[in-house]
Amino acid sequence: MQVPVFLLGIFITCGCMADSIQKTVILSGANGLLGQKLVENLAGRRSVNLIATSQGDNRILLREGYTYRPLDITNPAALRAIFEEFKPTEFINSAAMTNVDQCEKEKDLCWKINVEAVAEIVNLCREFGTRLIHLSTDFIFDGENGPYDERAKPNPLSWYGQSKLKGEEIIIGAGIPFLIIRTVLLYGIVADMSRSNIVLWARESLEEKKPIKVVNDQFRSPTLAEDLAEGVVLALMKGRQGIYHISGPDQMCITDIVYQVADFYGLDKSNITEVSSDSLGQPAKRPPKTGFIILKAQTELGYNPHSFQEGLAILDRQLREE
Ligand SMILES: NC(=O)c1ccc[n+]([C@@H]2O[C@H](COP(=O)([O-])OP(=O)(O)OC[C@H]3O[C@@H](n4cnc5c(N)ncnc54)[C@H](OP(=O)(O)O)[C@@H]3O)[C@@H](O)[C@H]2O)c1
Repeated sequence: MQVPVFLLGIFITCGCMADSIQKTVILSGANGLLGQKLVENLAGRRSVNLIATSQGDNRILLREGYTYRPLDITNPAALRAIFEEFKPTEFINSAAMTNVDQCEKEKDLCWKINVEAVAEIVNLCREFGTRLIHLSTDFIFDGENGPYDERAKPNPLSWYGQSKLKGEEIIIGAGIPFLIIRTVLLYGIVADMSRSNIVLWARESLEEKKPIKVVNDQFRSPTLAEDLAEGVVLALMKGRQGIYHISGPDQMCITDIVYQVADFYGLDKSNITEVSSDSLGQPAKRPPKTGFIILKAQTELGYNPHSFQEGLAILDRQLREE
């Protein structure tokens, strides 16, 4: 049977639409913990053309299903060039100076990365009609009365917290479509990490029988990196805007986190010494009690994070596969 030419045209158009790219997403900080999990989640999706960027070479284990470009977000010319090349519908800003004590000691560099680069990205998003998805932190709060919801009043105690809050304020005041996703104490593993996290640090130290000091006056909602990536992708795909709190479901004392890691791996807890935050003399002040109320993300995005115990089991499987 001969198919009329006009019908053939319709079939071809429909077929192309089903396969067509709907989003061109540039991701910054792709070598980081969240960045790599986002690449794993988004790479190879038919509806997403993913351009992963980070400073320096590609350190992501997964090598297919996306394009990689080196990008230092503090370089305005490089930022502009990547916007001009790809004309993104979305820009996910996962790049940041995330070491809280380093931010306290290198304030100018921290401001450059966490504030000035964000202002530059905002300008480009406005020019190119790009929705900005930006990652922020529980450290914008003072930790006096956590867990916090999205309407809580920020009051940062550290330079890192101040810089992340300023980044948020620039985005909110810019009049562009935006999503700010705040999170808490990430844990997980990816290739070639530039910094560790509470679970890996506790496991490694206790396995090596190193005595460790752990604060018993700070509370957080530990967040599995895969869960955060899934939350970001849900918000991205649903076209949401505004502020979302995305963390693990459990608010826990830091000592409980470490004791649970020790129990999970059957490690000797006598190497753990409980201390107060003040006794550590760290350069940056930490908020005592944060953690998030995640009801908005659960109801509006269908976000459904793993418990800390489930997260430990997932991470353990990944460590065995290494
Ligand atoms: N980790 C947490 O517990 C936590 C808690 C709350 C909020 N957050 C927020 O969540 C986001 C992701 O955190 P994460 O844990 O995935 O951080 P991460 O592992 O430290 O990753 C950040 C990435 O940004 C890159 N980067 C730093 N400066 C850059 C620059 N000038 N240009 C381009 N890339 C640059 C880093 O590169 P290198 O790898 O080369 O250093 C790193 O790959 C951040 O916005 C952070 O503020 C994290």
